[in-house]
Amino acid sequence: MLLGNDVYGGTYRLLTKVLAPWGVETTTVELGDADAVRGALRPETKIVWLETPSNPLLKIVDIAATVELAHAAGAIVVVDNTFASPALQQPLAFGADLVVHSTTKYLGGHSDVLGGAVVFADDRFYEQVKFQQFAVGAVSAPLDGWLTTRGIKTLAVRMRQHTQNAQAIAEWAEARPEFETVFYPGLASHPGHEIAARQMSGFGGMLSLALAGGADAARAFAESTKVFQLAESLGGVESLIGYPSEMTHASVKGTELAVPENVIRLSVGIEDVSDLIADLEQGLASIAR
Ligand SMILES: Cc1ncc(COP(=O)(O)O)c(C=O)c1O
Repeated sequence: MLLGNDVYGGTYRLLTKVLAPWGVETTTVELGDADAVRGALRPETKIVWLETPSNPLLKIVDIAATVELAHAAGAIVVVDNTFASPALQQPLAFGADLVVHSTTKYLGGHSDVLGGAVVFADDRFYEQVKFQQFAVGAVSAPLDGWLTTRGIKTLAVRMRQHTQNAQAIAEWAEARPEFETVFYPGLASHPGHEIAARQMSGFGGMLSLALAGGADAARAFAESTKVFQLAESLGGVESLIGYPSEMTHASVKGTELAVPENVIRLSVGIEDVSDLIADLEQGLASIAR
């Protein structure tokens, strides 16, 4: 399996700790570099697995271009579409074979349900996955299923507000000297902006910030906010702040997927954006003292 080099730490952990003993070999690669992808694809490569935007550095991968490279080498493409949600990006339209979502996030939308979804471009893998699900028991409980379908009814409206708020915060952060990098594909300065504009109908609610003051400043900032709650997970209506290198991505510390220690991640909620920016401003003021 070929895996993008900036994916959710739990995905890397599942592949390298749970599936590796079953014979699944994983190679990580910079998916934005076509030559690197061509070089990494081997005759035995079955799957190219990508996240776009990625967690936590919001890297953008050109889905159609990756599909072309993968299919030419006889591999299928799976897209983890959790960050964008189906409201903002539909990878099957760009030739992806399978799409996965953590429905715990935007699809549920209220941080009160756990679940996942697999979407198939055609019925090649459907029966196989359905059988695995039946045999292994990885199925949603009825209440979780109901909460998720209820959440989906407001997905499009929520995603519009998440996107609008995140764009405003990204533009605010870009003008602040305390941040050395703003990772948000909606900014023209983002290296993946043009590709994102082509394959997404909005840039989403997730953004990350690298603090100029380093790891100590990042940790202090993550603990300084009052509206943004310090917590794992993402995609709910309420805003969250996280410190990936010791939280969501702690399991990839010391690997090539390690997240820089001066990075914090925001899951921007649907609150009034002036409250959110005021909260971030008071956080910066408090760590400067
Ligand atoms: C991109 C991405 N995929 C998958 C997951 C896994 O989600 P869950 O914990 O619902 O299995 C996460 C969790 O943060 C994620 O960010």
